[in-house]
Amino acid sequence: MAKLIIIGAGASGLSAASRLVEKGFDPAKITILEAENRIGGRILTVPHGSSLIELGAQWVHGHEGNVVHPLAAAAGEIRTDIHTLESTGYADDVEMAYRDGRKITPVQLNEFKKILQSIYDDSKKELAQWDKSLGEYFESKFGEHLNRGSFTTMNRSTALDLLDWAHRSQNIEDGSDNWNDTSGVGSLEYHECEGDYTTVWKRGYSVLFDILMKNVPKTSNGLKLSLSDRIQLNSPVNLIRWNSAPSSGVQVVCSDKTYYADMVLITCSLGVLKDRADKLFTPLLPEKKRRAIEALGFGTVNKIFLEFRKPWWTSEWGGVNFITDPSKATGEWEDRVLGFSTVRGQPNLLISWVTGSAARQFETRSEDEVLMKCSTMLRTAVGTDFAYEEPTRVIRSLWQSNPHFCGSYSFRSKKSIELDVCPSDLAEPVIDSNGSARLFFAGEATHDHRYSTVHAAVETGWREADRIVEHVKETNFTAKL
Ligand SMILES: Cc1cc2nc3c(=O)[nH]c(=O)nc-3n(C[C@H](O)[C@H](O)[C@H](O)COP(=O)(O)OP(=O)(O)OC[C@H]3O[C@@H](n4cnc5c(N)ncnc54)[C@H](O)[C@@H]3O)c2cc1C
Ligand SMILES: *[C@@H]1O[C@H](CO)[C@@H](O)[C@H](O)[C@H]1NC(C)=O
Ligand SMILES: *[C@@H]1O[C@H](CO)[C@@H](O)[C@H](O)[C@H]1NC(C)=O
Ligand SMILES: *[C@@H]1O[C@H](CO)[C@@H](O)[C@H](O)[C@H]1NC(C)=O
Ligand SMILES: *[C@@H]1O[C@H](CO)[C@@H](O)[C@H](O)[C@H]1NC(C)=O
Repeated sequence: MAKLIIIGAGASGLSAASRLVEKGFDPAKITILEAENRIGGRILTVPHGSSLIELGAQWVHGHEGNVVHPLAAAAGEIRTDIHTLESTGYADDVEMAYRDGRKITPVQLNEFKKILQSIYDDSKKELAQWDKSLGEYFESKFGEHLNRGSFTTMNRSTALDLLDWAHRSQNIEDGSDNWNDTSGVGSLEYHECEGDYTTVWKRGYSVLFDILMKNVPKTSNGLKLSLSDRIQLNSPVNLIRWNSAPSSGVQVVCSDKTYYADMVLITCSLGVLKDRADKLFTPLLPEKKRRAIEALGFGTVNKIFLEFRKPWWTSEWGGVNFITDPSKATGEWEDRVLGFSTVRGQPNLLISWVTGSAARQFETRSEDEVLMKCSTMLRTAVGTDFAYEEPTRVIRSLWQSNPHFCGSYSFRSKKSIELDVCPSDLAEPVIDSNGSARLFFAGEATHDHRYSTVHAAVETGWREADRIVEHVKETNFTAKL
């Protein structure tokens, strides 16, 4: 029976493992090596108060064609969250204010939203013929509106300051650092699942793993082995020797132990591969794979929660988004903080987002600095509307500086279109010099159309499990070992 190592116990790695066992692969022949001291990867549910917060994935985006939705729905674990503030910041009860406290009026905000929406609507038809970046599309369309006099409630500079906010918001959607990095035509490759975009897990996204593991029969061939017994935590893989001694399979080197297997399924993020694929793999991966790793996009998106002793805002207030007057910008990370909004089920928390190079800079700064700067911005933006009280604590994600992630999620970059590279190039198995498939690749970034999501990660895990089962059948591994 063939031996398999899975690198990574996130959504894709654990989906692959459970599918393999369902298909009769002996769990005793699977080893899952996970660098962190926990499973879940970019799903990170943290208990907070009487409820929880999500530092990674939160929403089940859509229903049709979303493989997570039926799993979660069947288990009764999801609900529709009409509270979309945290996702878009466009909700009616979220204000917009300059950092000096000057507010955008509701009339201005409505006009801005309407024009932006019309650009989004046009983009669905027009991007197919757009060979430049998504940002250049939005900026040029916006420029046309400015020149045409579409804005009647604000001057040019205010409109452009609002566009800068829309850019920051779009970065959260895309996962790109700058919308000029996202390919216009490439962005159409992302296929949304129809249906409610803001379904959430009642008990947090990490319940997905309970569901995946439960589907696995606990006993196989009389062996009392469950999949969770096959996971080695705190085991970062430093080296994968996949073609040096062909007949001995693949060597997977961790700091304290070397593992051997016939096949290895790699699920670490595209960020990790970008950071160190040339050091991780000996010999180097094939040229086409290396080009895919280089050219596909991977950005940084972080969440910032501020905790207060008690809410100083009222239930009608959804939050405030920050716009930056370019002449007053500091050039520091705080210029690019989205704004703060309320969090469902967490009466004492407000949430914000920060993306791109600002998010990377933010990760190097102390919690004290983050707390102080965010509080100052918030206090000024709120002005005299409420009796503002200082936050007591900051809780934040650090997806870029954690070497097991090196960023947040993938996108179709301009470069990937220029080099004619797509996620399926990243997914392509790697064959050793004897013609045996040795390395398999899963993970959100290997999905051609749903990249950047959990449902992509799950689908790619299943895809590779099926591929591995086929491969084992074809090569008569069972007969050999
Ligand atoms: C802030 C944020 C918000 C998000 N929001 C949503 C959302 O609302 N909805 C949605 O659908 N998706 C969302 N996503 C995306 C979603 O979380 C990911 O697409 C998905 O979880 C990725 O799963 P994966 O298995 O591909 O990778 P990962 O979850 O990254 O799993 C890979 C695993 O490999 C491990 N690893 C890495 N390197 C090594 C090594 N050398 N040795 C051993 N182990 C290693 C890592 O520790 C990790 O556990 C969000 C992501 C972030 C960061
Ligand atoms: C634009 O309008 C705002 C107020 O709405 C004003 O403060 C600002 O000075 C104006 N800018 C220009 C360039 O006219
Ligand atoms: C995007 O690119 C255009 C054209 O090069 C440039 O004018 C603009 O400032 C860029 N936008 C951002 C947000 O960097
Ligand atoms: C490669 O081929 C040789 C010769 O047939 C064989 O001895 C060796 O075991 C093969 N290696 C693998 C990995 O199949
Ligand atoms: C696998 O076994 C079958 C049946 O014994 C045989 O026909 C086939 O040629 C074998 N395939 C390989 C790749 O060895």
